Amino acid sequence: MTSADPILDALWRDYTASTPQAALIHNLLSNRGEQIVNDHIALRSFGSFAGHRGVGIADLQRGFEAAGWQPRDHYVFDDKHLVARYWQHENPALPKVFISELEVGKLSPHAQEIIAGLLAQLPTNFAQRADLPWAGRPWQVSHAQYTALLAESEYAAWMAAFGFRVNHFTVDVNRLQTFASLAALNDFLLAQNITLNRAGGLIKGNPAERLEQSSTMAAPVDVQFADGVFAIPSCYYEFAKRYPLPSGELFQGFVPASANKLFESTNVR
Ligand code: NI
Repeated sequence: MTSADPILDALWRDYTASTPQAALIHNLLSNRGEQIVNDHIALRSFGSFAGHRGVGIADLQRGFEAAGWQPRDHYVFDDKHLVARYWQHENPALPKVFISELEVGKLSPHAQEIIAGLLAQLPTNFAQRADLPWAGRPWQVSHAQYTALLAESEYAAWMAAFGFRVNHFTVDVNRLQTFASLAALNDFLLAQNITLNRAGGLIKGNPAERLEQSSTMAAPVDVQFADGVFAIPSCYYEFAKRYPLPSGELFQGFVPASANKLFESTNVR
């Protein structure tokens, strides 16, 4: 896939390298003659806490804003200790960019200590890197630390294991030609033995909320930890169908209750 945007091309290359199911689904849709357009991409990060400088939304947004993406709404996910915001480009062929950040200070002292230990390993000026959104994991972490974080926050564990990379790309279902609905696309994927996230039902959201979304469950990949290689869930692929506002324009925002369930697509099963 080439998107005419160098940031997105770099993110797609990194994402498909660690997410075999994304390339598989992309090919299944391409083989039906579909031209795939992305609705949004999503990135994760660690916020600053208790005197520790995180690498968060403000760092990740920089490159996108320099390339023309404009900031839009903020969201809060209290039960997951996350905040998020999205950016939109005036070129409708470019995806929205959804960036979330973990409020590390709301985790237990032990989890904070582990994450402080990861951030302490960052090279000088890491947060200023131009390739920060696909810089990967800049720290050593043990499987025991991953497991300790997992008990409190699947998001924290995912960040510790994978670092800085796209968490998911999202297919714009409105622009698909051969699927009348998101349900039809889900049925097609299930028939190909692709596992979908069923938290909150296969389809999150509804036409009244002006956004329906579904996603795969992230498949396990081998990750090198300080104490060995372990298979853990990596990234997932998402699907979004948007409905018009009273003005006739398609709703472009997000529905927090749905996003809350979609975060669970990287949960360990
Ligand atoms: Ni998403």
